[in-house]
Amino acid sequence: LSTAPGDANEISALFRRLTLGVYVVGVAHGETRDAFTAAWVMQASFDPLLLAVSINPANASYEVLHASGWFSVNVLKQDQLELARRLGTKSGRDEDKLRGIATRPGRLGVPILTDALAYFECELMGRSRAGDHELVLGQVRDGKILDGKASPLTYGETGDMDGSSALYPPAF
Ligand SMILES: Cc1cc2nc3c(=O)[nH]c(=O)nc-3n(C[C@H](O)[C@H](O)[C@H](O)COP(=O)(O)O)c2cc1C
Repeated sequence: LSTAPGDANEISALFRRLTLGVYVVGVAHGETRDAFTAAWVMQASFDPLLLAVSINPANASYEVLHASGWFSVNVLKQDQLELARRLGTKSGRDEDKLRGIATRPGRLGVPILTDALAYFECELMGRSRAGDHELVLGQVRDGKILDGKASPLTYGETGDMDGSSALYPPAF
């Protein structure tokens, strides 16, 4: 695919053809807890059961995740777009973004969203640098479907909430 000047959106439009869900990754260490919206989440193995999450090391959650070695992955429902915005468009570095959101503590205190569609609790098993992100592997130690009737929110439904259209290069 070649991109002519003026087609600056072509690569971002191409990447929007990947189907992705919308998740909230929850972390905690000591008194600190945080959570961020993530679309780059996938199953990576059956045995052991592994999830892969690609995390921007600039996220406040990144250090908290590595400090405890545990994280939750919460599957958002179609009607939780505003929750995705709240947890995905500002950092929890200076405030507890989760205040007022229904959670319960999982292992090592990782926040589990009690109104999500489902959740996984993961133990950190590996990390690998992936360009400007880091690919984190978590072994799934627990999890549950919380609302078996709900439909999952898809990344396409978030539009450009994450501002990613500005992050793609103009050409390959
Ligand atoms: C729809 C959406 C998807 C996102 N996907 C990811 C992702 O996969 N990985 C990531 O590191 N950040 C992702 N983000 C950005 C983080 O949610 C955002 O930077 C957040 O403010 C980080 O919070 P923290 O600093 O409290 O950890 C996404 C944001 C949105 C709105």
